Amino acid sequence: MARLNILRYPDPRLHTVARPVAAVDGRIRQLVDDLLETMYANDGVGLAATQVDVHERVLVMDTSEQRDQPLVMINPEITWRSDDFAVAEEGCLSVPQIYDRVERHARVKVQALGRDGQPFELDAEGLQAVCVQHEMDHLQGKVFVEYLSALKRDRIRTKLLKKTRDELRDR
Ligand code: NI
Repeated sequence: MARLNILRYPDPRLHTVARPVAAVDGRIRQLVDDLLETMYANDGVGLAATQVDVHERVLVMDTSEQRDQPLVMINPEITWRSDDFAVAEEGCLSVPQIYDRVERHARVKVQALGRDGQPFELDAEGLQAVCVQHEMDHLQGKVFVEYLSALKRDRIRTKLLKKTRDELRDR
């Protein structure tokens, strides 16, 4: 397994639309394992392949308290969305130290393939619903800050560009 480098907003590669996985083979299982290792190492609750510059429809999540229930979704598709919405504070490993409120469907059902290539359905609510919608957005090239006002987004962009510049200078 390997820890992968996470792209940071506003890296334009975060806006790439991922293509479907053709076959769940050894390469994809390796990607899944590396995504899980990278997510846990960074204390994230979710990570999409897009964030590590791999543009295929793969995401991993773990919203459990004990962080011992990895969930792997390959080619995920939302099959049902609740009519009601919920607002939650979100963060993102690609947008470090920025948290803000986003409104999403309160509950969704998602069909996907697991790490074993077998199809399953997830009925998600609460944090898991927030997380799966957030990660599926990444696969469409969308970062959560795009739900915020243009003013907030510009501030975040400026802050993170400065942070990246400072880190490069201090290296
Ligand atoms: Ni994210």
